[in-house]
Amino acid sequence: MYGKPDARKRLTALITGASSGLGESMAKNLSRRGHDLILVSENLPELNRVKGEIEALRAGPVTVLAMDLFKQDSAERIFEFCRRRNMPVDILINCAGIFLNIDRELNNIKCVESIINLHVMSLAKLCFLFGGVMMGRKQGYILNVSSIAAEFCDPASLTYGPTKRFILALSEALHCEWKNHNITVTCLTPGGIRTNFFRANDVLLPPVIKYSLIEPDACAEIGINAMFRGKLRITPGIFGKLQSLFLRIVSRPSTYDCIKKSYFSMMSRR
Ligand SMILES: NC(=O)c1ccc[n+]([C@@H]2O[C@H](COP(=O)([O-])OP(=O)(O)OC[C@H]3O[C@@H](n4cnc5c(N)ncnc54)[C@H](OP(=O)(O)O)[C@@H]3O)[C@@H](O)[C@H]2O)c1
Repeated sequence: MYGKPDARKRLTALITGASSGLGESMAKNLSRRGHDLILVSENLPELNRVKGEIEALRAGPVTVLAMDLFKQDSAERIFEFCRRRNMPVDILINCAGIFLNIDRELNNIKCVESIINLHVMSLAKLCFLFGGVMMGRKQGYILNVSSIAAEFCDPASLTYGPTKRFILALSEALHCEWKNHNITVTCLTPGGIRTNFFRANDVLLPPVIKYSLIEPDACAEIGINAMFRGKLRITPGIFGKLQSLFLRIVSRPSTYDCIKKSYFSMMSRR
């Protein structure tokens, strides 16, 4: 086993989902730590806003790339973009994500394909494409953003939790396999974060989460520290850990019908 990659060196980080919320906080955090950035999402104006705010602080170079990660070949296109520009990626942060309500899952099969492409296909391909190069260079960091939803049955969505569970399982496998290549793979499993995620995806927040959200900057700091320390997995904050414990106890296959009833009763009273 080689020593850990030197996080004090100026590294290049590629962050998906960097146009808002947690991904934006991750980008600003890494820029403050002196690293160069490649920011990816499908929203070019918002990526340029984040780039402008980072560059106003006289930080290092920020490159933006608009890419729709629902598309099957997006990972290859991102990889090719970096290869052509000779930008080796030392840190890969897979943060882009959406939530899909059960109504849409049942009525629009294209949405199911999209969330699987985003959370599973594109994320896995980015890990393997950039991880392969990191292996050759014998250094690298990967941080994959999952969720506490990876661990329980959520009647609000039949794809969000399962796809986030894939991210957790893949991260665990890569962590074990690639540590001997000096690549650290970390999985971030946050509880509720105060971002636009819920409004953008029409998610109802149960009170247990609504009143104990973590700020995106705090979540980014904890996640990035865990990544640089080579941790396998981190759920930031005491409230995140409590949410995870509570939901794992309360929301189980045996209680599914009851949880579903109370969720949709809360939905109807919104
Ligand atoms: N908020 C929470 O409570 C919470 C809890 C646990 C885990 N998470 C996870 O944290 C991550 C970040 O979420 P957030 O809270 O920061 O929400 P957010 O503000 O809505 O950010 C989501 C990001 O994903 C990007 N994205 C979505 N679809 C995309 C696509 N097809 N192609 C490229 N980029 C796409 C969005 O970019 P565009 O603007 O281009 O769409 C945006 O930058 C997600 O993976 C989410 O599952 C969130």
